[in-house]
Amino acid sequence: MDYNNIIVEIGEGILQITIDRPSKLNALNKETIAELHEAFADAKEDEEAKVVILTGSGEKAFVAGADISEFSDYSPEEGKQLAAEGQQKLFDYVANFPKPVIAAINGFALGGGLELALAAHFRIASDNAKMGLPEVSLGVIPGYGGTQRLPQIVGKGRAMEMIMTAGMIDANQALQYNLVNHVTEQPELLNFAENLAEKIMKNSLVAISSAIKAINANFEAGVNGFETEIEEFGRCFGTEDFEEGTSAFLKKRKADFPGK
Ligand code: COA
Repeated sequence: MDYNNIIVEIGEGILQITIDRPSKLNALNKETIAELHEAFADAKEDEEAKVVILTGSGEKAFVAGADISEFSDYSPEEGKQLAAEGQQKLFDYVANFPKPVIAAINGFALGGGLELALAAHFRIASDNAKMGLPEVSLGVIPGYGGTQRLPQIVGKGRAMEMIMTAGMIDANQALQYNLVNHVTEQPELLNFAENLAEKIMKNSLVAISSAIKAINANFEAGVNGFETEIEEFGRCFGTEDFEEGTSAFLKKRKADFPGK
């Protein structure tokens, strides 16, 4: 598949999606959001793709936000539509993606860029990364899930401060905030992400899908996550992966999960 704004590469189970509009610091215009949706939808069906690594091209930016030039003349109704469509097509889609999604933040992750990283299942960053939700400095608020996911991850007070000040935090502060799980030197970032992906791929990806659902249920309004956990736990017992995982353990050999 040919894309204008992203690069999609696959190797040994790892699908790397690189947002590639370096002249605009990888800002998310509508076309990029549509391409990302398509790449994720393809990855869902692609049996070769086990884990997704999402990153930005170059050393300067992961994604410097939604493309401001596209929405500066929008009406309230168009603004609402922009947020609703983006959330449904990309941000919620990534958050609920059945395969692990790791955001490898290689530089600025601002506004929609940080929101995209927040939608990923977890984040790692290079030591030059800078993160923030600067929307109020533009007279708007985060619209791609940032007001919901940032406080879930860093806590309400820190999210309030980050959003109100529109400031940026560096990678080490992000680590302290639990916004990212690890910080690496810039050249090591993708290797580090790949090592994590390899560790993940040794386990049952079917069980991991269930775990993603159950963990996400904790953050869904009106959903009892414990009930989701019970459902998903039960579902695992009917899978070939469960049969393989338990019998491999009992026979003292390494499991070789069929992924079913
Ligand atoms: N939307 C559209 N274009 C963007 C962009 C965005 N969110 N972020 C950066 N760009 C563009 C710039 O307009 C510039 O394009 P140009 O060369 O055609 O003028 C190019 O990317 C390079 O950015 P520039 O501002 O020159 O780089 P810098 O190193 O001086 O500053 C930032 C980097 C990230 C601090 C600065 O680009 C910035 O503040 N970006 C906007 C961040 C933001 O508010 N995001 C939230 C959007 S809701």
